[in-house]
Amino acid sequence: MAAGKGTRMKSKLPKVLHLLAGRALVQHVIDTAAVLSARQVIVITGHGATEVEAAIAISTRAAGQFDLNFVRQEPQLGTGHAVQQAAPMLQGDGVVVVLSGDVPLTQADTLTQLISACGGDKLALLTIDFANPTGYGRIVRQGDLVQAIAEQKDATPAQRQITEVYSGIMALPAQQLNKWLARLDNKNAQGEYYLTDIVKFAVADGVPVVAHKINDATQVAGVNSPVQLAELERAYQRRVALGLMEQGVRLIDPARLDVRGVLKCGQDVSIDVNCVFEGQVSLGDGVKVGANCVIKNAGIGASAVIHPFSHIEGGKPGSKDAVEVGEGALIGPFARLRPGAKLGAGVHIGNFVEVKNSSLAKGAKANHLAYLGDATVGERVNYGAGSITANYDGANKHRTIIEADVHIGSNCVLIAPVTVGAGGTVGGGTTLTKDTPPLALSVARARQVSISNWKRPSKK
Ligand code: UD1
Ligand code: CA
Repeated sequence: MAAGKGTRMKSKLPKVLHLLAGRALVQHVIDTAAVLSARQVIVITGHGATEVEAAIAISTRAAGQFDLNFVRQEPQLGTGHAVQQAAPMLQGDGVVVVLSGDVPLTQADTLTQLISACGGDKLALLTIDFANPTGYGRIVRQGDLVQAIAEQKDATPAQRQITEVYSGIMALPAQQLNKWLARLDNKNAQGEYYLTDIVKFAVADGVPVVAHKINDATQVAGVNSPVQLAELERAYQRRVALGLMEQGVRLIDPARLDVRGVLKCGQDVSIDVNCVFEGQVSLGDGVKVGANCVIKNAGIGASAVIHPFSHIEGGKPGSKDAVEVGEGALIGPFARLRPGAKLGAGVHIGNFVEVKNSSLAKGAKANHLAYLGDATVGERVNYGAGSITANYDGANKHRTIIEADVHIGSNCVLIAPVTVGAGGTVGGGTTLTKDTPPLALSVARARQVSISNWKRPSKK
């Protein structure tokens, strides 16, 4: 169910598209369904339907795990009415799990347990005890057996004392769903079609209703406001941080880590505070990441050190635009690696150095204030402070080739396309417009003039 408006988000963006850990809320729910090997996923949309459907289709169809369909619920007349829209599309057999697009952190193993409680022939409700159950549907039992769900506004004072509440998540046999949905009405305090009324019908039909009670509130927490979104973001990040530490990753402060994607770590990795990992990032054995780094779509080789305040931003994971940092490389502080940066083993990229769509072979160094764009840099090259490749002529990009063992002095401009042959040297301050042959020195700057005993002008 993803039709609700989300008024309290006070946003133009439909609520279920707000991001948690870099993924839309509803995407978390769909991804959990994929973990359960769902055959079919039906998303019920309403508010912002076009936008919601487009966002889900792009991210989910690409993965192609299951049959994905959308149905629209317009207007929104309640949760029962929402499921009524989806029912005609459902395959007639199997187990239907009802989930909410704004409840992102339900764990797959919890749903697996709920589905086994359903067992293919029972109605299984996911429930939880809340010290303050106000607002939720209460689980009304007779002995152990669930008799009904009483919605807050319809509950008797005695029912309002019940602390066990319905989470909004249920699993039930598909075969029973249609006939129960057909019996729903809206004769209640809110004039809505309550999905929760099907509990009464199950009881009347002699179908057992079971409650699977959990005690982790984050798994059933919905997002209604920016405050709740931020709370769940922290809960999610805490879960990720604990998982990493259990694998042996040293996090200086688990409360100051953000993973918006997938972070894979080898052995003896340490990560200092305030780092953000996006997309797919892998850190090899012994990698150290300093404070305040942002790393996206990159593979960092074993023993590399990413010094503080470095920004690594690879393009699409697995593509030529992903960033690669070789074993033992030293990056930063304040380095910037952009899409297509491929750094070999032992490469040094120092402060205020930007690398884009360039490869640097083993042992190459660019330690200070430099730009390398569309360049192929050979082994052991030393690229001086303040030097840049002028790779863009205003219309087209051109490559710069710097062969092995070249020394580029400080403050050079290499006007691409241009090649510096192996072992060549480019003198400081050179604007290089023609190739440097192997082992040659190129110098292209105004010859120095020194006038002896120069008298500076003085004030009259
Ligand atoms: C519902 C349950 C209540 C439970 C609570 C848990 C009903 C009648 N009540 O309450 O027992 O304790 O969830 O949070 O089901 N939605 C639609 N179309 C609609 C109405 C809702 O798609 O017409 C979606 C919402 O966007 C949301 C979900 O269904 O994702 C739940 O709706 P919400 O209004 O939050 O549930 P409640 O009525 O508060
Ligand atoms: Ca409601």
